[in-house]
Amino acid sequence: MWVADMDFATPTAVTQALQERASHPIFGYSIEPNSLYQALIDWLLEKHHWQIKREWIVLTPGVVPSLNLVLAALTAENEGVIVQPPVYFPFFSAVKNQKRRLIENPLILEDDGLGNLNYQMDFLQLESCAKDAKLLMLCSPHNPVGRVWQKSELLTLLAIAKKHDLIILADEIHADLVYRDAKHYALSQLAFEADQSPSLLFGQHKIITAVSPSKTFNIPGLGLSALIVPNDRYRKAIQLHLSNLGVSGANPFSLIAFEVAYRKGGDWLKALMAYLQKTCDEAISFIRAHLPKINVVRPQGTYLLWLDCRKLILGDEALNLFFVQEAQLGLSSGAMFGRGGEGFMRMNIGTPRANVMAALMRLKSSLS
Ligand SMILES: Cc1ncc(COP(=O)(O)O)c(C=O)c1O
Repeated sequence: MWVADMDFATPTAVTQALQERASHPIFGYSIEPNSLYQALIDWLLEKHHWQIKREWIVLTPGVVPSLNLVLAALTAENEGVIVQPPVYFPFFSAVKNQKRRLIENPLILEDDGLGNLNYQMDFLQLESCAKDAKLLMLCSPHNPVGRVWQKSELLTLLAIAKKHDLIILADEIHADLVYRDAKHYALSQLAFEADQSPSLLFGQHKIITAVSPSKTFNIPGLGLSALIVPNDRYRKAIQLHLSNLGVSGANPFSLIAFEVAYRKGGDWLKALMAYLQKTCDEAISFIRAHLPKINVVRPQGTYLLWLDCRKLILGDEALNLFFVQEAQLGLSSGAMFGRGGEGFMRMNIGTPRANVMAALMRLKSSLS
């Protein structure tokens, strides 16, 4: 229950298209068809009301490579890059790999006193650290805490970025995995809408977004994603880096899966989210009823549950060992996600509900 992929079969249309492609015995170099770009354009418009142009799309071999690529192409050594921990750990590695200067803008954890935990961005601290930064890496929705950022939060973020002339790299890989009461806003589209009003210029041209069907349709091993880069200069810089590395995003199978998933996966995704919602509700009810020493942050998106295990009063190594050895569960240690992750564990619930409930039952026995 650690790495973020699911135990569910990808949509049948994807499997069938891959089988059909496999029956053609030539697996040569492949060119991305126009229809693939159109499938992405249609998906973003239909699901996220985000109008993008064909020429903004740069295909890449994954979102993690994209994070590294954008930092390499658009920032210089030692320039400041803001991340908002606790956050998906490759954000830190990208900053380190590219020898950029890490600036942390930790999320604030609020407790309403009734045990409901909620994460917020710390805009005040962001104001002060933005002065010293070139780029901000946004995780939207946020892995591991499951926040789906509200429109008002994103507009505040955009206003700060505008004031300090920050580039924003928005990782929106979890955008399609959003629960019933939340709505994902594509940051770039929000900025575009604000730019239409001269008093509210937010600069869509400063936003680069990473998107991918990999989490949504459970095809991450196939490795193909896209960067949406409205700014011509940035896009050319990114493309130049890609071509200098000799990297091509696509192979005959990833191209097929990408396009078919976006074209034909809509109903499958609806069913998936209904299933995950129910799993999430049941898991949270169980935790609240039977695990008094563990709290859980209700996710607004993602198939990841962020468990607050601080009442167990174990160090992070001991906490992980407890889960593995006593409960016999392999989760992700919260400490991996940086500051604020200590004492937490991330549990992947993208698996049949019976597995999730069996895991929680094991956790209960190991704690009693
Ligand atoms: C926020 C975020 N970005 C990127 C990735 C991985 O993307 P890829 O497999 O395309 O490199 C993950 C996987 O968990 C993720 O949660």
